[in-house]
Amino acid sequence: MTTTATPPVLTAVGLRKAYGSGTAAVHAVAGIDVDLMPGEILAIMGASGSGKTTLLHLLAGLIRPDSGSIRLEGVDVAVASDARITALRRERIGVVFQAYNLMPTMSVLDNVALPLLLAGSRRSQARTVAAERLAAVGMESFAKRRPPLLSGGEQQRVAIARALVSNPQVVLADEPTGNLDRKNVLAVCELLRQVAAADGRAVAVVTHEPMVAAYADRIVVLADGRVSDQFQRSEVGSVEQLATRCFHAVDGIA
Ligand SMILES: Nc1ncnc2c1ncn2[C@@H]1O[C@H](COP(=O)(O)OP(=O)(O)OP(=O)(O)O)[C@@H](O)[C@H]1O
Ligand SMILES: [Mg+2]
Repeated sequence: MTTTATPPVLTAVGLRKAYGSGTAAVHAVAGIDVDLMPGEILAIMGASGSGKTTLLHLLAGLIRPDSGSIRLEGVDVAVASDARITALRRERIGVVFQAYNLMPTMSVLDNVALPLLLAGSRRSQARTVAAERLAAVGMESFAKRRPPLLSGGEQQRVAIARALVSNPQVVLADEPTGNLDRKNVLAVCELLRQVAAADGRAVAVVTHEPMVAAYADRIVVLADGRVSDQFQRSEVGSVEQLATRCFHAVDGIA
């Protein structure tokens, strides 16, 4: 729920990011304001190439904006030192990458345990928590396998378990259900809902799937690196109506 009284978990203002320069520059994010409220799932939709991944990576501190600010826990991620951003990401931010980014030579269990190990947890403790997270995405029986031996959907669920393992305050998920069947899509949506429901936490999920956006509290639609529409989930009725509004916004019809 968005209320004016509660401060956002994350606030981004005036974000811009271009790749390349001069006439060849691609203005992937061309002036975006967005915030994440505690308890909220925000869905980010938009056509391929509209800037969704770039925006998510900016919010995660993985890339720096050309201009604008991103405040999380009193830190401006846009200008903080690399060391400060690394610490913030370790402690506060969980990222599910569009391409999973699992470590191919490590077991599934150790992939999920990695954020905890990097944060200084003992190996046995990290593995215990990692096993719990794997169970939450139905992947406990794959703990000893290496990621290259998993299907796309299985890797995706491992990536989700890894992003959630340290109970981050902000979860930023890029197409986390793109390779999942309907049953697992719903399971992941329920999991993201549980994450957002925990104290002072927020989730942003990039998705092409209206069914996933229907789980969100608020929907932002991007077109050409800008917000072309945004609305509360409660403003549209069915998933079909939501899809119509999002795709019309994408096409510039709405
Ligand atoms: N590293 C890069 N160098 C140059 N251009 C890039 C780079 N990354 C992205 N782009 C360009 O920036 C624009 C936005 O890309 P982005 O990956 O953010 O889109 P997206 O909305 O996530 O698309 P998709 O739905 O296909 O994942 C695209 O035109 C893309 O080609
Ligand atoms: Mg993308």
